[in-house]
Amino acid sequence: MCVKERDWVILQTSDGKNYLVEVKSQTFHTHKDSLFLGELIGRKFGEVVYGKRGEKFFLLRPTLFDFLMKVERATQIIYPKDIGYILLKLGIGPDKIVLECGAGSGALTLAMAYMVGEKGKVISYEKEAKFLEIVKKNLQKVKLSERVILKNVEVKEKFDEKEVDAVFLDLKEPWFLIEASWQALKSGSTLGIIVPTTNQISQCLKILEKYPFVDIEVVEILVRKYKTNPERIRPEDRMVAHTGFLIFAKKVNEK
Ligand SMILES: C[S@@+](CC[C@H](N)C(=O)[O-])C[C@H]1O[C@@H](n2cnc3c(N)ncnc32)[C@H](O)[C@@H]1O
Repeated sequence: MCVKERDWVILQTSDGKNYLVEVKSQTFHTHKDSLFLGELIGRKFGEVVYGKRGEKFFLLRPTLFDFLMKVERATQIIYPKDIGYILLKLGIGPDKIVLECGAGSGALTLAMAYMVGEKGKVISYEKEAKFLEIVKKNLQKVKLSERVILKNVEVKEKFDEKEVDAVFLDLKEPWFLIEASWQALKSGSTLGIIVPTTNQISQCLKILEKYPFVDIEVVEILVRKYKTNPERIRPEDRMVAHTGFLIFAKKVNEK
């Protein structure tokens, strides 16, 4: 399939830098060279295109990973390394109804919207209207707005929804919403929480113990990238050492 106007594409420069760009009638500038994006219309992914000064650009298909790394950010976001595990643990897939509190910039919202398919829904609470505007923009970019119900509400005690397939909390004091999450979840389904510090984990565990939750897990996901020279394979010098701790628990009817 050929590239069309308004498609999003990745342009990779010869030194391996990736740029996520929308194909439209405008010139795109990089440290290497510039390129008129309109020239990409009708080209095929995988082709090499040349800039004005003759520099090579590889024309690549963006994946959800690329969109997540390039979301417009107004808050701390959840990174793909954590999102992958969250989606699997929460069982997010086609037709699911998922609730999250703390939409922030919408990185997780976008990934969940992608996974629930056309018939699923993501219900996303966010207290700050200005952040919701960013979430809306990020969703429009990937054409997933239809799958998300955004609620500009500061949740204090409970959610409006019942019988949802999964709940995820990303806010400063998530323990205040553990009871609300239990009320909203379908029995047997999973609550997920992300917190940046260990004392927040303790607070969450103390409250989780008080409610009928089982299968409690606390996990941290570390990703170490390697240099790709086949003669000198070794880890990259720098890594993202810390993002957050993940907590999961399954709702049961009684304990
Ligand atoms: C770290 S950000 C979430 C980032 C988001 N998960 C992402 O991947 O982009 C936390 C958000 O929770 C929101 N928040 C905090 N307490 C809240 C509450 N009680 N109800 C709704 N939103 C809340 C904050 O305004 C903030 O935008």
